[in-house]
Amino acid sequence: MLNIVIFGAPGSGKGTQSERLIKEFGLDHISTGDVLRKEIKEGSELGRVASEYINKGQLVPDELIVDMLAKVLDEKENAKGVIFDGFPRTIPQAVALKKMLNERGTDVSVMLNLHVEEDELIHRLLERGKVSGRSDDNLETIKSRLEVYHKQTAPLADFYIQEGKHVSIVGNGTIDDIFDKIKKALEDIK
Ligand code: AP5
Ligand code: MG
Repeated sequence: MLNIVIFGAPGSGKGTQSERLIKEFGLDHISTGDVLRKEIKEGSELGRVASEYINKGQLVPDELIVDMLAKVLDEKENAKGVIFDGFPRTIPQAVALKKMLNERGTDVSVMLNLHVEEDELIHRLLERGKVSGRSDDNLETIKSRLEVYHKQTAPLADFYIQEGKHVSIVGNGTIDDIFDKIKKALEDIK
């Protein structure tokens, strides 16, 4: 299985590049942010709890996320591979993902770390905020999402460096150019 962790700050292009990867390689996609937004829309208990964190730009507690991920992963049993978008975001989540995949006879193939400058991230998210309807696409919440990313999520790169799975991708430029770089990186690992 080709299991890709797509990683990067809010607005770095995880969702955008995932769409390309799905089309090109026929992979399945799990975006924990999308799953949480669906739970909120459906008015579930998980959605109710999650919205309090999301609206403040904070991370939803690991136990809730790991349980949710396990359920979604079981639905992807026959996939050629899975793109993990927005997950893992903490060391305990990365450890849990490794365990879940190992139990299913597979592992993370590569972690693609998209690097984009802060000004560009804020610009992209504010632009998207004009049309997205996302409760966290406003300047105040964007700032706290970026802070949370730097403090709690960015250090996770070391976990994948140690696993020998980490690939840096410059995430500036056109969507096509970035996707070309991703394809080259994947050729090297396949
Ligand atoms: P999540 O939904 O994962 O949001 P995020 O990480 O903040 O990232 P975004 O989805 O905003 O950005 P993206 O990197 O996907 O970029 P995109 O492609 O959309 O998480 C939301 C919240 O849910 C979290 O804050 C947390 O509360 C909670 N959560 C989720 N997962 C969790 C977890 N595992 N643990 C705990 N809590 C969790 O691009 C952004 C914009 O830029 C778009 O408009 C796009 O069109 C544009 N764009 C993309 N590429 C380019 C380019 N090359 N040039 C110009 N514009 C571009
Ligand atoms: Mg996204």
